[in-house]
Amino acid sequence: MTPCAQGEGKISPSPRVPEEKHSVQGAMIIESLFSLQGRVALITGAAGGIGRVLSEGMADAGAAVALADVRADETEALAAAIRREGRQAEAFQVDVARRGSNRDLVGGVVDRFERIDILVNCAGINRREPLLDVTEDTFDRILAVNLRGVFQLSQAVAGPMIILYGRA
Ligand SMILES: NC(=O)c1ccc[n+]([C@@H]2O[C@H](COP(=O)([O-])OP(=O)(O)OC[C@H]3O[C@@H](n4cnc5c(N)ncnc54)[C@H](O)[C@@H]3O)[C@@H](O)[C@H]2O)c1
Repeated sequence: MTPCAQGEGKISPSPRVPEEKHSVQGAMIIESLFSLQGRVALITGAAGGIGRVLSEGMADAGAAVALADVRADETEALAAAIRREGRQAEAFQVDVARRGSNRDLVGGVVDRFERIDILVNCAGINRREPLLDVTEDTFDRILAVNLRGVFQLSQAVAGPMIILYGRA
């Protein structure tokens, strides 16, 4: 029973709404607050740990998900699994460290879904090495994926988002 305050600090159950109705209403409110129905989400690093969970969660919330990763087979397998749940999902291969690859990705997603509402930059790499062993190539690659890639893809997605919303 949901308690409500009455008079001199006395607590008594709400006379109006039974508990089970409360929980149904609550679930409906939460569902509508977090609904992504009609939205298109682009998730990079979708084949990885965090990207996969976010992709499945956004698809469950109703979004059509564009799954992007450098690992094509794993990404396609995830897209197929999400489609089997009755959701919309498409796999795209991308190397976020390459500007042209990011542009192709955005073009492909817009061709397929006509819009992009949400971008999740989750692609990333890390190499755990002793400080003195880190080469310039390793350092540059990490920055190219984790920093420049995020910037360039965000920039590429901003174009269609500005058309859609008037701002990114
Ligand atoms: N897991 C954590 O606790 C944690 C904490 C803080 C930050 N992060 C960072 O968040 C990001 C995601 O974490 P995760 O645990 O899911 O990592 P993960 O390694 O499981 O997934 C990263 C995904 O990015 C993809 N990827 C790598 N290089 C790419 C490229 N050039 N283009 C496109 N895709 C590429 C990989 O194929 C992989 O599927 C990583 O950058 C990670 O360093 C993770």
